[in-house]
Amino acid sequence: MWIKHLQLTHFRNHEDTKSDFEEHINCLVGKNGSGKTNLLDGIYYLCIGRGAFSYTDTQHLQHGKTFFSLKGTFEKDNRKNTVHCIIEKGKQKTIKLNGKPYPKISEHVGNFPCVLLAPNDTDLIREGSELRRNFFDTIISQIHKNYIQLLIKQKQLLKQRNQLLKDADQQERFLKKDVLEIYDAQLLPIFSEIYRFRNEFIDNFLPIFSEIYAALADEEMKINYRSHLEEENFETIFKENLLKDVILQRTEKGTHRDDYKFILGKKMLKHYGSQGQQKSFVIALKLATFSIIYNQTQIKPILLLDDIFDKLDENRIENLLKLLSKSDFGQVFVTDARPERTRKLLDSFGRPIAFFEVKNGTIIQ
Ligand SMILES: Nc1ncnc2c1ncn2[C@@H]1O[C@H](COP(=O)(O)OP(=O)(O)OP(=O)(O)O)[C@@H](O)[C@H]1O
Ligand SMILES: [Mg+2]
Repeated sequence: MWIKHLQLTHFRNHEDTKSDFEEHINCLVGKNGSGKTNLLDGIYYLCIGRGAFSYTDTQHLQHGKTFFSLKGTFEKDNRKNTVHCIIEKGKQKTIKLNGKPYPKISEHVGNFPCVLLAPNDTDLIREGSELRRNFFDTIISQIHKNYIQLLIKQKQLLKQRNQLLKDADQQERFLKKDVLEIYDAQLLPIFSEIYRFRNEFIDNFLPIFSEIYAALADEEMKINYRSHLEEENFETIFKENLLKDVILQRTEKGTHRDDYKFILGKKMLKHYGSQGQQKSFVIALKLATFSIIYNQTQIKPILLLDDIFDKLDENRIENLLKLLSKSDFGQVFVTDARPERTRKLLDSFGRPIAFFEVKNGTIIQ
């Protein structure tokens, strides 16, 4: 699957950028602030239905404009597919596939998979658990169509349950226990399903990740998936926690609090990993994401590599290039603010490379 044509209108610093791309490697070069990352974010948005870096759509809107539009023509299974996202201030977001709007935006996720590697990916290691849950949830959603519906349902039920907790006072007076029981009876099976999906996913993901990491560097890295659902009698623990939930006015236990611990040797990567080790870790995470999506869906995701050579030593760059040239990737986008360096590095690929210059929110091949 690959993107043949792209048009970004009023999207960040892209006033009206149009370009055709090649099926294999596309290299975007240009000065700092020229709009390379924004262009990759535009492709990501078309694939996933939201931006890669921030969750509010208005942040993508070009200053002073009231709408933005993204259009992409994708080649998939030898057929041309057009995706059109239109976001207008104060209106519902619309995504159309071949001219037909999706009834629910979530139905788009997984149709055009893509994987983005970006400089701020190391936030995944350093920041809170929500970022890691989102990261793995986005992968699982691209593999299993019904997973995203579970997440939506979990969010709705938790919102309703937390409202009941807020309506009660600290002694559980005014707590509508009968309504709470109804919510819990729906929520518990959803927790179990999400837990099952995440467990199954991580079991498949870990061997792929370890193999890729070993090709990049010689260190022992692990990922441990942790969940309250591990407790054998979770249902009882969940019920026993009610008084605490009432005091805190939110649901303390459940898969919405899951985390993935990243471990270097025996220590937390967050505290002990160097910048280069953290960067190598997220590169392996993302390349493993490509592999698992491809293995499980038979669709090769578009690979978006934003500034990947930064912070890596010569040895790791060489290993990364070997990995990238050996593996069976489909369409790849690479950005770099230093065209000479990129050209030299990519020359070793032995695959055709198309170069594009991004300049003040425009693009020239
Ligand atoms: N909502 C917006 N409206 C207009 N311009 C914006 C908006 N958001 C960001 N920009 C501009 O987009 C530019 C940043 O683009 P981008 O991050 O894509 O650059 P880049 O080419 O990736 O640079 P670098 O090489 O530093 O990574 C900045 O000049 C910024 O001011
Ligand atoms: Mg950039």
